[in-house]
Amino acid sequence: MSKTVELTIDGKKVAAKEGDNILKVARENNIYIPALCYLEGVSSLGGCRVCVVEIRGSPKVFASCVTPVAEGMEVITDSERLRRYRKWAIELLLAERPHVCSVCVANGNCELQQLATELGVDHLRVDRKWTNYELDLTHERFAYDPNRCILCTRCIRVCDEVEGVHAIDLMLRGKNSKVIFDLDDKWGFAESCTSCGKCSAVCPVGALYVKGKPLSEVKKKELVSFVMSRRSEKTIG
Ligand code: FES
Repeated sequence: MSKTVELTIDGKKVAAKEGDNILKVARENNIYIPALCYLEGVSSLGGCRVCVVEIRGSPKVFASCVTPVAEGMEVITDSERLRRYRKWAIELLLAERPHVCSVCVANGNCELQQLATELGVDHLRVDRKWTNYELDLTHERFAYDPNRCILCTRCIRVCDEVEGVHAIDLMLRGKNSKVIFDLDDKWGFAESCTSCGKCSAVCPVGALYVKGKPLSEVKKKELVSFVMSRRSEKTIG
């Protein structure tokens, strides 16, 4: 049986299962930490660094989605330094690819856009290095715009760990990284794709989406909980 540990988050005493990450425990206790690549129910990546927190006694900041809780830990989720770092993380993502909300299918239903607003990102302090990838419209139901992708890998993890297919992966490194289907096939010709739609349901931006049907926020939430309920069934079974 897993051990229970006690810690404080923003001064609030909480109990948690040993091994759980700080972000999960904070959410279970209604404490808000902004996050982007994290998706409950699949493995954590720690890629976007939006979820950084401070832990008393350490000069460093920690990605809360990949930092396990520990007995006596004192977590701080909000400070001027954390807001500054989170803002930088969002600015760098916005600079890397052409995120022009007004012409994006996810406008008004985009987690990157919501966080940029929340963190007060009204301009970028770095040069834009925008991409010009070809749009993939070969699948009959779904579309993929690599120019909107923030490389959060939620789609990869959900395809692998929930659908059990691993039709999606990353190729290349750093800013040249690109989400691909099978061996960089066009989506419509990726033989291992089951067309389940889970990847588009969990995409936080407008990179993977259902053709001709911009998702309303409500529908998106329903889809994400459906995806995660499938996860529970698999775990139980
Ligand atoms: Fe933790 Fe992205 S949500 S690093």
